[in-house]
Amino acid sequence: MRSITIAIDGPAASGKSTTAAEVARLLGYNHLNSGLLYRAITWAARDAQWPAEEDGFDRELADLDLALERHGVGYRVLVDGVDPGVHLVSPETSAGVSAVSARPSVRRRVLSLLRAEGGRGGVVCDGRDIGTVVFPDAELKVFLVASAEERGRRRLMDHGREPTQAEVRREAEKLSRRDEADSSRAVAPLRRAPDAVELDTTDLSAAEVVARIVELARARSSAIG
Ligand code: CDP
Repeated sequence: MRSITIAIDGPAASGKSTTAAEVARLLGYNHLNSGLLYRAITWAARDAQWPAEEDGFDRELADLDLALERHGVGYRVLVDGVDPGVHLVSPETSAGVSAVSARPSVRRRVLSLLRAEGGRGGVVCDGRDIGTVVFPDAELKVFLVASAEERGRRRLMDHGREPTQAEVRREAEKLSRRDEADSSRAVAPLRRAPDAVELDTTDLSAAEVVARIVELARARSSAIG
């Protein structure tokens, strides 16, 4: 069967990355997590206190050594040869990432890395603009949605314990603010591609979501032979 390109987009904590990694593993594809690149730039800018003003920021970005390195089915992102690790998912990085990823220079940089790495197919790429901008010709596009409360609960469960109702509400508000910023920006906003299959995962298990996408992928790749 031919190796296809699979684009998985959706709002924050909709399960894109976990789903994409498992789909890639089952199909023998690579998993490209675009959010990691935006997070790495956000962390680097904060760590080295880049100027906010456009020219200064863009000069620092042009000098930044940013690379992807294969790691299991996925990739590690390296900044100056080092994996920033937990800094990529810290609350500070998460709070700053929407503003950084709205910059056209940042989008151009990430776009070229993603296309260089995933342009030959056999890849599951997840993010916000994969089916609309990065890989508009992807043979399979999936748009994952889930209620904000469920997404907040899942994100907090990743921290290893059952959260309280109040914690879930607070997390859901944070995610919704980021979705609003990601959806309303001028460049490459979070948007469902017209030809994407929308999957509401609120009441589905992770395994059910993965199985559905693998089934769609097998059907697509055998249809195009
Ligand atoms: O894991 P989570 O869904 O919370 O976020 P992520 O996929 O790691 O993405 C973090 C942030 O990067 C998003 O909130 C967007 O601001 C930005 N992003 C983007 O603009 N375009 C993408 N293709 C992927 C991420």
